[in-house]
Amino acid sequence: MLGQSIRNLEADSLARVALANNAEELEAARIAAFGRKEGAFQQIAKEMSKLAPDERKHIGMLLNAAKQAVETALECRKQRFAQAALAARLDAEWLDLTLPAPGPRRGHLHPLTQIQRELEELFLSLGFAVLDGPEVETEYHNFDALNIPADHPARDAQDTFWLKDGFLLRTHTSPVQVRGMEKLGPPLRMVAPGRVFRNESVDASHEHTFYQLEGMMIDRDVSVAHLIYFMKTLSTSIFGRDVPVRLRPGYFPFVEPGFELDIQCLICGGAGCAVCKQSGWVELLGCGLVNPNVLRLSGIDPEEWSGFAFGLGLTRLVMMRYGIDDIRLLQGGDLRFLEQF
Ligand code: PHE
Repeated sequence: MLGQSIRNLEADSLARVALANNAEELEAARIAAFGRKEGAFQQIAKEMSKLAPDERKHIGMLLNAAKQAVETALECRKQRFAQAALAARLDAEWLDLTLPAPGPRRGHLHPLTQIQRELEELFLSLGFAVLDGPEVETEYHNFDALNIPADHPARDAQDTFWLKDGFLLRTHTSPVQVRGMEKLGPPLRMVAPGRVFRNESVDASHEHTFYQLEGMMIDRDVSVAHLIYFMKTLSTSIFGRDVPVRLRPGYFPFVEPGFELDIQCLICGGAGCAVCKQSGWVELLGCGLVNPNVLRLSGIDPEEWSGFAFGLGLTRLVMMRYGIDDIRLLQGGDLRFLEQF
């Protein structure tokens, strides 16, 4: 009787194990067979206590053999499921480590830097040195040495960020002229690109921070003709063609005579637009012959030497070249804008 039950239980359990489709069904089969309270083998073990000792021994062996067989089958099947689960996971999480990585995204030079480097190259080819100067300047280099004494109204024309102890943020690159004369003396050919600062409220055409390129040439008998020659070379090189320019009288204390050089507005072609304030012309640079006072202040004899100087708005130039009508875009840090250049 009990022997038959054991054989039936073994057959049923093995079938259930074989038919289990997944780990959960397998676990259910294990509990049905070996569960501590309800397990079928446990029930049979209880029955055994009623048997006579010699019969109990025989049935006990039978029971152990059956348990063994079911346990082995369970273990086998369990491993199969574990292997299948691992294989499925490897399949799902597969990575091809031999594929080339996308790599870091490449950046490029800011349009201002591009134009600055083009101009540096042009002037280097014309025999000019490229100089650098501090952005935090002394009052002397930014103003006094450029023939702008403390009570001079021209100081008000450039709204200055004053720092402590008479230092300031340079309002133009012209102080590098002074540093160039002090350091190198005549004859001198130099340009100095750089960042300048003015205490102005910001709008589409005004920034508190912008870029200029300063230039200076000192030699014997330098005249307005030299100035015009270099300015023409400059504008042709920048725009790649002959752009109409005009020279107007302009006042800067450090040059005499002084001029402002305008180019025909490249955005409207001279017809008049918002950028050129309907005039058809845009101011590109200030220039002139170096004021003898400026030479003298830096220890250069104006009887022997003369020169020209110019200060060009690099920011303005970039705007003209690309037709940008809002200066704030340039330093705004928006990559969608910068990626266009
Ligand atoms: N420094 C002047 C400015 O910022 C420009 C300038 C430079 C004019 C050199 C004449 C000579 O406006």
